[in-house]
Amino acid sequence: MNKPSDLPLHAVRSHEEDSNTTPNPTFDTILQARLSRRGLLRGGVGTFGTAMLGGLGVSACGGGDDKVAAPAEKLLAFAAVPKSLADTVAVPAGYTATVLYALGDPLAAATPAFKNDGTDADFENRAGDHHDGMEFFGLGADGKPSAGATERALLAVNHEATTDEKLSSFFLHANGGTTTLPRPASEVDKEVAIHGVSVVEIRKTAGKWEYLKDSSFNRRVTPLTDIEISGPARGNALLVTRYSPTGTKTRGTLNNCGTGKTPWGTYLTGEENWVNYFTRSATDDTARGNDKSVTSLKRYGRAQGGASRHGWESAGADDKYARWNISKTGASADGSDDYRNEMNGMGYIVEIDAYDKARAIKKRTALGRFAHESASFGVPVSGQPLAVYMGDDARNEYMYKFVSTATWNPADAPAADRVAIGDKYLDSGKLFVAKFNADGTGQWVELALSNAAISGYAAYAFADHADICINSRLAADAVGATKMDRPEWCAVNPANGEIYYTLTNNSNRRVEPSGSSQLAPDAANPRAYTDMKGTTAQQGNPNGHLVRIKEGTGAAAATSFTWDVYLFGAESGADKGMVNLSALTADQDFSSPDGLVFSPSTGICWIQTDDGAYTDVTNCMMLAAVPGQVGDGAKKSLTYNKAAGGTLVVETQVGKAPTADTLKRFLVGPSGCEITGLCETPDGKAIFVNIQHPGENTSQANLADPTKYTSQWPSNAGYGAGKRPRSATIVITRNDGGRIGS
Ligand code: FEO
Ligand code: CA
Ligand code: CA
Ligand code: CA
Repeated sequence: MNKPSDLPLHAVRSHEEDSNTTPNPTFDTILQARLSRRGLLRGGVGTFGTAMLGGLGVSACGGGDDKVAAPAEKLLAFAAVPKSLADTVAVPAGYTATVLYALGDPLAAATPAFKNDGTDADFENRAGDHHDGMEFFGLGADGKPSAGATERALLAVNHEATTDEKLSSFFLHANGGTTTLPRPASEVDKEVAIHGVSVVEIRKTAGKWEYLKDSSFNRRVTPLTDIEISGPARGNALLVTRYSPTGTKTRGTLNNCGTGKTPWGTYLTGEENWVNYFTRSATDDTARGNDKSVTSLKRYGRAQGGASRHGWESAGADDKYARWNISKTGASADGSDDYRNEMNGMGYIVEIDAYDKARAIKKRTALGRFAHESASFGVPVSGQPLAVYMGDDARNEYMYKFVSTATWNPADAPAADRVAIGDKYLDSGKLFVAKFNADGTGQWVELALSNAAISGYAAYAFADHADICINSRLAADAVGATKMDRPEWCAVNPANGEIYYTLTNNSNRRVEPSGSSQLAPDAANPRAYTDMKGTTAQQGNPNGHLVRIKEGTGAAAATSFTWDVYLFGAESGADKGMVNLSALTADQDFSSPDGLVFSPSTGICWIQTDDGAYTDVTNCMMLAAVPGQVGDGAKKSLTYNKAAGGTLVVETQVGKAPTADTLKRFLVGPSGCEITGLCETPDGKAIFVNIQHPGENTSQANLADPTKYTSQWPSNAGYGAGKRPRSATIVITRNDGGRIGS
C-alpha cells in the first residue's frame, strides 16, 4: 500500500503504523570510521559461487577481485520504456503484455462471470483484490508437480487489501457501500472474502496463456480459513482465544504482501498491514490492568481507542465479526472467552502447499511477527542451515534473518509431504535482527533470552522464546537494532548469494529530527532531503533506496556481514551530490522501490515501485537490473547544513553507479497502481506481474461516473466487463519467443 501521505483524496488512510519510538542508536555520531571496506572485501569470493552460475548461463567472477559476472547473452538489450502517466501497461517494443487474471474472475465452474458493477457475489470462489506477491508452481501434463514445466502451472497470488476511502471497499459494492458504522454483514462478508490468497491454474494453449476457471486446483484462502499456529508460539498463552482456547489455531491470513518459495516447493506469504483491521475500546488499557499486553499492542501500533480500517467488527454479534474487536471484554484470566489475544494470531510468514488443498496451512512463528513482506531463502547448501531473509515494512523498523536448526538435505526437494518438510526447517531455529555500522560492516544480533539485553529489557518482560517470536519488534528494540527506511521485499542474488532489500521511503528522516518518531540520517539510511511534487514539499527520504548485504564467515549462519547501498531512488534531474547518488538517467530514474525478485532464468534483478512521490511525472514501474556486488562502489560523505549553523556529516557506502547496460526501465503501469509480484516460467520466456489497485486515487464520490475514475484498466485493455478498475495479473512474452529481458 502507499503511505498515507501519498493519498490526498483519502482523508483517513493509515495502513502502515509508525510506532517505533525506542531510542536505539543511529550512526551520525560514528563519523570518524576510516576502515577501508573495499580492502576488507577483496579476497572473499561469494559463498555460493560457481555451482549456481552454470545454471544461470553466466560465468563466475574470480575470487578476490571486483569484477561483475559477465552474462553469456546480452541482458537488457531492449529499449527503455519512457516514464508515462498513460492509463495503460507499457512494455518495450517487441514485447506483449496480456491480462490473465483479475479481481472477481471466477475460480469455479458454477460461479458466474464477473459483472464488475458491484452486484457480484460468491467471492470465496473468485479472484481476490489487490494482487500482490506471486509464485509459480509448475505442473506436468499429468497434473503432478513439475519443476521444469513451462506450459502448465499454478499461480499462488496474494490479495493484500482493497481499494477504500471511507470504511467501505467502494468498487466492490453497487452504490459504493456503507461509509458509517455499523457496516452491513452482506458488505463485510464480501470484503473479508476478497482478502487472502488464491491459487489458480494457468495453461499455455496454442501460444496463449489463460487461467482455467474450472480447475480442481483452484482455491481461495481467506481471513476465515482455519490455519494452524506452528513453531515456538504454538499453544502459547498469548494465542489463546475463544476460537482456539488451546492457542493452536487461528482464523485466516490477512494483508498478504510479499511472498517466498521454499526449496521444497511450498508458498510463503507475508502478513503486512493487519494491525489496522482491529479495533480497541477507549478504556481497554485499564480493562487489561495495564499489563504487558498493552506494551505489546502499542508497539505494534494499536493504542486503545484505535478504529478499525473497515469496521468489520460492527457487522453483528457473530464470532466472525466480534473477533475484530480485540478489547478485553471477557471475565476469564486467560482470554479464552474473548478476542483480546486475536491480533497475536496475525503478522507471520504463512506456509501453504499450493499443490494440495488437503494439507494444513501453517503460520511459521519462529520467523517472527511483524509487518512481513517477502521471505527470501539464501542459496541452499547441502549440510548447512537454511537462511530466510525478511523485512518489517513500517517507518523505522528492522531487517531480520531466520536460520534453521536443521541442516539442508537436498533430498528434501522435491518432497511428497511438503508441509512436513516445512515443519523440519521452519519451526526450529534462531531469529536475528540487523545492526548496521558506518564502516560498511554489520551484525546479525540473535533475538534470544540468553541475550541479557532481552532477558533484562526494562520495557517488556519476555516470558519465553515464544514471547520473543510474537513480540519480535520489542526484542529487536532491546538489542538496539538499526531503524530502517521501511524494509519492503528482499531477494537473494543467485549468482553470488548477496541479499538485496528495498527500503521504499521514509517521511520521518530529518537532518534535525524532532519528536520521538523522526530520525537523523545514518550510514545505511543516509538521505534526508526535500523533493517537490508539484507545489508540495515532500521531506525525509521520499524516493527510497536498496541496501545489499554480503554474509561473512558461516554464510547462512553468519553473524557478521558487509553492506553497501546498491541504488538510490531519485529523479534524474536531482542533485547528484546529495540526492541522485546513483546518477540515474531518465531511462533509469525511479522512486519508492518495493517488489524485488531475481529471475532464476536470467539472473536479472527486477525492481518494482509502489510510489506516491514521483507520480506527478510517472505511474509506478518495473526496472530490470544487472547488479554488481557489495563493495563495487565507494565510500561517500554527505554534509548537511543545520538550520542554526554547523553541519551533520553522514558517511555511507555507495554501490557502483549503474550504466545503460545494467539498469533500464522495462514497464510502466496504468494510473494509480503499484507494480508488485513477479514469477516466471523456468525457461524465462514468460513472466507474470501484478498490477495492484489501478485507479486507487479515485474519489468514492465519483463512483457513479466512470469518466471520473482515475483508471479504467483493465477494461480499457479489452479485459472483462464494466469500467471499474481491477487489480490483475498480466503475462509478458517476447514476440520472437525469446527470454524476457535479454
Ligand atoms: Fe504491501 Fe509494504 O507493501
Ligand atoms: Ca507496497
Ligand atoms: Ca518531484
Ligand atoms: Ca510491498
